[in-house]
Amino acid sequence: MVEKFHDITFDHGTHDKLKLFKASLSRWLVVVINDRYFEGPIQIFDLFSGPGCDVDGTSGSPLIICELIAGNSTRLLKSGKKVVIIFNDSNVKKIKELQERLSSFDFNGVSVKIQYFGESFKSVINELLPQMRIKNSFNYVFLDQFGVTEVNGDLFKIMCSIPRVDLLFFMATSFLKRFANTGCFSEVDFIDMKKLLKLPSHLVHRAVAEDFSKLVPTGQEYYMAPFSLKKGPNLYGLIFGSSHIKGLRQFNEACWKVSQLIGDANWITEEEKHLESEQLSLFEDANRPNRLNAFERDLECAIISKELTNNREIYLFTITKGFMPKHAKDVWKNMVNSKKVVNVKRFPINDDVWKKHKELVSIELCHE
Ligand SMILES: C[S@@+](CC[C@H](N)C(=O)[O-])C[C@H]1O[C@@H](n2cnc3c(N)ncnc32)[C@H](O)[C@@H]1O
Repeated sequence: MVEKFHDITFDHGTHDKLKLFKASLSRWLVVVINDRYFEGPIQIFDLFSGPGCDVDGTSGSPLIICELIAGNSTRLLKSGKKVVIIFNDSNVKKIKELQERLSSFDFNGVSVKIQYFGESFKSVINELLPQMRIKNSFNYVFLDQFGVTEVNGDLFKIMCSIPRVDLLFFMATSFLKRFANTGCFSEVDFIDMKKLLKLPSHLVHRAVAEDFSKLVPTGQEYYMAPFSLKKGPNLYGLIFGSSHIKGLRQFNEACWKVSQLIGDANWITEEEKHLESEQLSLFEDANRPNRLNAFERDLECAIISKELTNNREIYLFTITKGFMPKHAKDVWKNMVNSKKVVNVKRFPINDDVWKKHKELVSIELCHE
């Protein structure tokens, strides 16, 4: 099945994975093209690329990348930023097929340098790490591995310490749980297998992402988010990481575009089963995602307990929990209406509060 991945039609889960990849990369591209502080190059690494598409010609990650570059040609030409795409697949036949397929690809006038490698990931990554460190470069790294073992702890630690590397990698989380007892995953031995075995399957992927985040060196700014994918009976997942809050914010937006109901999965998880019921409950909260209810409760508690003291902290709390500024604005509005916080003329909860200190507003509780 795995060998035949590109010889058959992409399944529903693969479609969703690629949809999220596309939504995430397209947002990333707009941000890096418009960035005035770093001149580039813009480098996109697809290191388990495949031949470009499935047997029906549906675009896989390589074609998605090229189509997005062509679609952003006006912006790119105006910015003068250079684009480099790096494709690798250990199956040399697939890389040759990809090279052939892209030989006459029309990038709408953008000059794009494409590098092709036909090596195993573990050997090519050592060649490519220095390229990710090129001064002023922006790097998006997509690691669409089979299984779980290619992206190991040591590699993750290196990648999360390189500035301006946004990382999206795939993990077969069901396999982890199924084979947790066998000791055959020494590459990811930092994952707490005992804990995984006790967790319901829909929580496994979140726990794996948390274990990855524990590898980030103390004091280093790094933001991560998981997205759970169901393909047939098995659960998989994508894990995103960025050293910039803006990177995470863009990824969250992509997640909410693909998963409009719950924001972090392409399936109705056990904790959200009530959303499938055809009968509406009389209690409004019971008709909403539990994940959203929990976020709203947690945010309100954090404000009341003074864990959060201004709008910037609310923004950070919201983005790092996988939500969008609009979700926090709803909570704030409710708290103002129920007279829990003092209403002020301007209380921005948006991307500007991260950058502009003049946008900072302290929270005043009503009953102190
Ligand atoms: C899930 S597919 C990638 C699909 C691709 N992203 C797409 O959208 O078409 C995984 C690819 O990784 C390749 N592969 C498997 N093991 C590899 C390894 N150790 N190093 C590099 N590539 C590998 C396979 O040949 C396969 O094409």
